Parts: sequence; structure tokens; C-alpha cells
Amino acid sequence: MLYLPQNDKHKTPIIPATRPEPAFRERDQAMHEEVRHPCVQHKLSLIRDSETGHKRFRELATEITMFVAYEALKEVRIEEIDVQTPLALAKCRRIAEDVVVVPILRAGIGMLEGILGLVPTARVGFLGMYRDEETARPVAYYERVPHQTSTALNVIVDPMVATGGSTVAAIDALKKAGATNIVVVCIVTCPEGLAAVEKAHPDVRVYTASIDSHLNDVKYIVPGLGDAGDRLFGTT
Ligand code: PRP
Ligand code: URA
Repeated sequence: MLYLPQNDKHKTPIIPATRPEPAFRERDQAMHEEVRHPCVQHKLSLIRDSETGHKRFRELATEITMFVAYEALKEVRIEEIDVQTPLALAKCRRIAEDVVVVPILRAGIGMLEGILGLVPTARVGFLGMYRDEETARPVAYYERVPHQTSTALNVIVDPMVATGGSTVAAIDALKKAGATNIVVVCIVTCPEGLAAVEKAHPDVRVYTASIDSHLNDVKYIVPGLGDAGDRLFGTT
């Protein structure tokens, strides 16, 4: 509950939100959506903090993923069913789509628990990729994707879409495996990454908690949150 310190001079005044309208998300003509809900922004401030250790980082990645994936899952097809309540027949809707979650290893693993919390019945595929440190190009090392049905919604999860190279390669791999309906859920991206994904795959929408400023000279997102895999798993 919010405490409004109207007559109490000893309380810290509440700073008005800089964004006056409830623009919790921004969906423009481009194929991306930034989830701007205050709860997400609050958690972003914590996960970005270089003082946040790997245990808390993992928890926050799970929590942020749930918020962003919640938005992305509105792309899922639903069907109407009749449900008998104790009182009457209710017209209800339920998810009618096969959902396939595809984490890009390794950091995408940190988002798996969050999205499976929303769709526990989802099938899960894995795409192993790392960025070559010299070229920043993705190097694929593992692929195990479930059988595709024609309408399955494939949700690629990876905390970072930086140059977009890994995401584009992941979408390439899924389409090659027969996927036709794909969305991407990430935590942080930047204009360069979004442009690359949109250019290669204009049919794929990217959902993110933040569109950051830019890439630095070693292709890290600024301000970003650093190396997501290292921060999730406590490696350096
Ligand atoms: C990170 C991240 C993405 C990729 C993003 O993975 O998790 O997969 O980089 O960069 P891009 O958009 O420029 O391709 P990383 O290569 O660090 O591997 P890791 O997950 O094994 O740590
Ligand atoms: N991979 C990361 O983990 N962070 C970045 O900023 C870019 C790529």
C-alpha cells in the first residue's frame, strides 16, 4: 500500500513518477515491445547493480522473465470451452496452443524457471551458442529442439539480445526445424540488436524489459548488466 505523507514533514516526500501515463509497455510499429511496468523497472534496477550476487541475480532473472513472458504469451492461441461451475455453465477460454520454450545456452537457462512458472506444460528445446570473443559472432555447439507442430508457439529465451547475432541464428535454427510461430523474450536489448532481428526475421516479435542505449566497442550492451551468463552462474 502506498503511504502518502500529506501533513507529515518528517517523512521523505514521494517523488512523482516522471512518466505520467500508465505506459507499462510500448508497442510501436516495429516488431518489439518493451515492458515498462514499474515492478519490472524496479527489478531491473536490482539486477543491473554490479553488487548483486549470483543467487539474487538468478532470482531476479526468474521474476523479470515472468513479467516479460506474461506479455509475450498473449500471442498464444486460445479456445472457448464450457466449464461446469457448482452453479452454472461458464463460458471459459483456455490455451489451445502447443508452447515450446527454447533457451539459448547458457544464459537462457536462467529464464527457464520463470517461463515454466507460467506455462508448466510447455515443451523445452535447447540451442547451445556462444559468442566468439574476437568477432562477436555466434558459434553453435548444440541443438535439441522438440518436434514442431504447425501452430506451436516457440518462445526463445535469452537474457541479452546484443548484436542480435545469437537470436537471429536461433530463429534460423527453429525455422529450419519447422517452426512458423516464434517470439523472443529477453531482459535487456538495444537498438542494434532489435534492428538485426527485425531485418533478418521481420515476422518475429521481441519482448524485453529494457531497450538500452547502445553497444560498446566489444559489443556489450550499455548500460546493460554485464555478462549475463557469468553473473547467473558465478563464473568470470
Ligand atoms: C550471451 C547472451 C546471448 C549473446 C548475446 O551469450 O546470453 O546468447 O551473448 O549476444 P549477441 O546478441 O551479440 O549474439 P554468451 O556468448 O555470453 O554465452 P553464455 O550464455 O554461454 O555465457
Ligand atoms: N552478452 C552478455 O552477456 N552481455 C552483453 O552485454 C552482451 C552479450
